[in-house]
Amino acid sequence: MKILGIDTSCDETAAAVVADGREVLSNVVASQVEAHQEYGGVVPELASRKHIEAINYIVSRALAEAEVPFKDLEAIAVTNRPGLIGALLVGVAAAKSLAYCHNLPLLGINHIEGHIYANYMVHDTLTFPHICLTVSGGHTQLVEVHEGWQYKVLGGTQDDAAGEVYDKVAKYLGLGFPGGKVIDDLAQKGNPSAIKFPRPMRNSGDYQFSFSGIKTSVRYFVEKARRAGILVEGQNGKAEDTNPDMVTVEDIAASFQAAVVDVLVYKSLHAAKATGAKAITLTGGVAANSELRASLKAAATEIGAEVYYPPMNLCTDNGAMIAGIAYQKYQQGLRDGLSLNAAANGSITQRK
Ligand code: KG4
Ligand code: ZN
Repeated sequence: MKILGIDTSCDETAAAVVADGREVLSNVVASQVEAHQEYGGVVPELASRKHIEAINYIVSRALAEAEVPFKDLEAIAVTNRPGLIGALLVGVAAAKSLAYCHNLPLLGINHIEGHIYANYMVHDTLTFPHICLTVSGGHTQLVEVHEGWQYKVLGGTQDDAAGEVYDKVAKYLGLGFPGGKVIDDLAQKGNPSAIKFPRPMRNSGDYQFSFSGIKTSVRYFVEKARRAGILVEGQNGKAEDTNPDMVTVEDIAASFQAAVVDVLVYKSLHAAKATGAKAITLTGGVAANSELRASLKAAATEIGAEVYYPPMNLCTDNGAMIAGIAYQKYQQGLRDGLSLNAAANGSITQRK
């Protein structure tokens, strides 16, 4: 069964064709990152406009690359929640039009369910129940995933998403947008113990997260170091020849990353232990983080659990994960009518 999946929830216009929930026949993504770069973050109105410009072309490309004409599709799936409302509406309007024109069933999909599903598309050995940590620019959520795509949301961020904080810290350090990859790379050359940034809610005894405190702490640290003239700007990591009080961007990156990863790993492991799950999956853009992957793997090994993450093109926003989970939902009887609407919020445990 071939399904066209569309995602326009944030700043990527994405469409893909997937057969039987797992076989990716095409996966096309138009990134808007350049358009948002000068603002240091995603500008919602700009995102909507860019989606409008790209959507028809991206859908045509997805079908062409898959060599699947409309007549061979059996359903159309679209992310309708959660996300930037204007951005979501573009995908939903496109999907509704196509479903109507080609007389195809329409399925509205929760974006986070798509992220959670991504690992299942590529890992045959993934067992249930497993713990999924979704970490992206817009989300940080810990979920217990059961057979039949039933979920128990364990917790999530009370303020900023992990990726959002990476992007903000990169901005304070003058490293551009998005900041996750550049901080990850710099951190590998720095000392993670150089600065002790806070680990908010680490020991809260639940699965909630808070990252804005780490962000603010880094910001004050950077401002103070700049004022005191002890920050080595740029990305050369050379402070040894001068004042021992000097701090490098590499050390700040490594210390910041240590704080974020520490909390993410601690709570994910705690969730696996408490539920007895033998697998932890990572998904979302921050799942690309080398330290998060390595630390989680090391910690999981100690309790005999496996760690999984998808390839990058299924980790970040894409239409394949939406078509994939839609196949499972279709088997479960899900159909949406042309009255389908978009919503900025929406839990994975609620149907709408
Ligand atoms: O899933 P994604 O592509 O888009 C959404 O936000 O939905 O995630 C993008 C986020 C950005 O905040 C980016 O800085 C972060 O993922 N990111 C990383 C890394 N690569 C991307 N964060 C940490 N380490 C990385 N290697
Ligand atoms: Zn996402």
